[in-house]
Amino acid sequence: MGMIGGGHSSFIGIVHRIASYIGEEYTLIGGAFDTDYERAQAFASKLELNPERTYPDIDTFITKETALPAHERIEAVVVVTPNFLHYPMAKQLIQAGFHVICEKPVTNTAAEAVELEELVAKHQIVFALTHTYTGYPMVRQMKTMIAEGVIGKIQRADAQYYQGWINPVIHDVEKRKTVWRLDPDKAGQSCCMGDIGVHAFNMIEYTTGLTTQKVLSDLNTLYNNNPLDVDGTALLRFDDEVRGMVRASQIATAEENNLCIAVYGTEGALKWEQENPNYLYHLREGHPINVLKPGNAYNGKMATEATKMPPGHPEGIFDSMANLYLGAAKAIRGEAYLKGAFPTIRDGVRGMKFIEATLASSKNGNVWTPIND
Ligand SMILES: NC(=O)c1ccc[n+]([C@@H]2O[C@H](COP(=O)([O-])OP(=O)(O)OC[C@H]3O[C@@H](n4cnc5c(N)ncnc54)[C@H](O)[C@@H]3O)[C@@H](O)[C@H]2O)c1
Repeated sequence: MGMIGGGHSSFIGIVHRIASYIGEEYTLIGGAFDTDYERAQAFASKLELNPERTYPDIDTFITKETALPAHERIEAVVVVTPNFLHYPMAKQLIQAGFHVICEKPVTNTAAEAVELEELVAKHQIVFALTHTYTGYPMVRQMKTMIAEGVIGKIQRADAQYYQGWINPVIHDVEKRKTVWRLDPDKAGQSCCMGDIGVHAFNMIEYTTGLTTQKVLSDLNTLYNNNPLDVDGTALLRFDDEVRGMVRASQIATAEENNLCIAVYGTEGALKWEQENPNYLYHLREGHPINVLKPGNAYNGKMATEATKMPPGHPEGIFDSMANLYLGAAKAIRGEAYLKGAFPTIRDGVRGMKFIEATLASSKNGNVWTPIND
């Protein structure tokens, strides 16, 4: 495996590195880890990587790696740079024949995501999109139980993703400049919906199997001189009987990483909270709440395959990400894997279409806006 970005002090790089090792399927061989080559070399040296395969940039990475004999060449490349680089880098890598493991949001625009989807098909490579939270055993159990009809016909699906970390930044124009997620040149069209709203949206479509038809949204930039949303609500319409909502905020003061999802059916409901990921709550009328936990025989195959420790040994974000890596490894090796083992470029297209519809709805006066897919 190779890595682009994810170098010294990056946020999510370490999660990818550790996750890739957990399943013992990948070895980090090299990469272009940083904008600063010296810092990249120091980082690689600390990890005891081969300096010959620590490259100054992605172009050199591709040129040098593709010149190697096939059995020596890096097979899969992880893209963990700021958002605006995902599309050009993923495109280059796919065209050069690498399998790609990419961070979200997959591109800057929906049209770019569609283009990547076509390239993935054309070049027959595996493309994994790291919507990390879909790797949790209890999220997979939720998906299984919904598919098995345990909560009956779905009537409502809501996801909330609240963080507060932009509150100390947003009120000071100088401080804003230190945050690339608030810079349209680096973040793309959206801050909040692109960064975390899209995770919440993906969680709904992942767990329910529903397809969102249209959205009505209200986004907030908080200040006129702040170009990107930092908070927003989107009503979702799946079909006429089934409604839902994504609400996301990065100015929900003092919230940490409060992602939760709740799905309500005719026979009951299922709820999951990212900050307590080992509990899945099953609600039924007239019954006490049932709490399901990983590592127990009552769980289905998907959750069981995603659990590495015996019951009572909490697993977290590294393990969840590792499950996406394990799914992608099976796909790369041509082995059978369960549907939903890892999000794909299809999820990327859906996510980008959601982001664009949400932005358009809010801009056009909070009108219902179709997700044409
Ligand atoms: N899946 C998740 O839960 C999750 C969580 C956090 C971040 N992310 C996503 O991961 C991506 C990275 O976010 P982050 O918070 O780790 O960012 P970051 O700013 O902490 O790290 C970015 C890294 O990319 C490197 N980089 C930038 N430009 C580069 C280039 N041209 N070539 C090589 N390296 C380059 C930087 O030097 C840095 O090491 C974002 O797209 C973000 O949306 C996803």
